[in-house]
Amino acid sequence: MNLGFLGLGQMGRPMARNLLRAGHSVTVWNRTRSKADELAASDRARVARSPAEAAQDAQVVLSSLANDEAVIEAVLGNGSAGEPVLAGLRPGAAHLSLSTISPALSKRLARAHADAGQRYAAAPVLGRPDAAEHGELVVLVAGPEALVEESQPLFDALGKETHYLGLEPERANLTKVAANLVMASMLEVFGEAYALAESYGVGALQLLGILEDSMLRPEALDAYGRRIASQQFEPAGFRLELGLKDVDLALAAGEAAALQMPFASVLRDRFLVAMARGLAGQDWSAVARTLPHKRAA
Ligand SMILES: NC(=O)c1ccc[n+]([C@@H]2O[C@H](COP(=O)([O-])OP(=O)(O)OC[C@H]3O[C@@H](n4cnc5c(N)ncnc54)[C@H](OP(=O)(O)O)[C@@H]3O)[C@@H](O)[C@H]2O)c1
Repeated sequence: MNLGFLGLGQMGRPMARNLLRAGHSVTVWNRTRSKADELAASDRARVARSPAEAAQDAQVVLSSLANDEAVIEAVLGNGSAGEPVLAGLRPGAAHLSLSTISPALSKRLARAHADAGQRYAAAPVLGRPDAAEHGELVVLVAGPEALVEESQPLFDALGKETHYLGLEPERANLTKVAANLVMASMLEVFGEAYALAESYGVGALQLLGILEDSMLRPEALDAYGRRIASQQFEPAGFRLELGLKDVDLALAAGEAAALQMPFASVLRDRFLVAMARGLAGQDWSAVARTLPHKRAA
């Protein structure tokens, strides 16, 4: 396929390279031109002087850019990136947006491309640069079914799994940020648990080894994820009131070591909300389901 590719950062460079290796003809554009020249030298990519030029001969242009601002500049225009994708892409040709951007911008892109007679799908990815390198990303795709089907060979070159999230592109972007929220929360929790352990002379790596044998086992995480998703809090494996006791114990041990544990403090409040709702005897995972929101069918 004739492809355009915008953005040769940590993720974009290995992804563009995998598309070249899969036999596609790829014209690349990057704000800092030297990165595009390097890829041209090592992998025979063609280099475009603007996003529009990268898009003009492409059946599909893919973009992997830092954030909303970068995507607005390169795809919609009115910035320093040069003529945008919107001005270069032919009617019927498509843009696949791989970046982690806001659902609102994704909606705006869908409208702008449709107004120009172009096609659009959101395809943000899960996985770090080494997964991108090995073509082992998880691709979250949403947009017109025909476009997603036609693009499957491209997703296969980038990743090991593709999940289709429906016609509205913004659903893929939302799913990506929801997944990152899980990871971001775990990062903070690791930090607080390590600090608590270290305050009492237990090494972070030793705690990690113990977690790897227990709570961090995929089946344990999966079981909690499933319980919470399906709201199956009875019978309780571990009662919520006992969970509150343990969060209190952690906070008290931290306080004795003059250790701030902001996330644990929030957790304590969340457990108190669950207690006030009468959930003391349910499984402690019920703490996750006390926030009002619209539920998917
Ligand atoms: N790194 C990860 O582990 C990871 C994993 C999954 C998803 N993501 C997402 O993938 C996207 C790319 O991430 P990355 O890690 O590759 O970031 P990165 O290494 O910082 O690369 C960012 C890319 O965006 C370009 N860019 C930044 N601002 C721009 C602007 N105003 N106009 C035009 N181009 C601009 C950069 O161009 P220059 O070369 O000129 O700076 C570069 O090509 C992000 O949305 C990120 O959230 C990242």
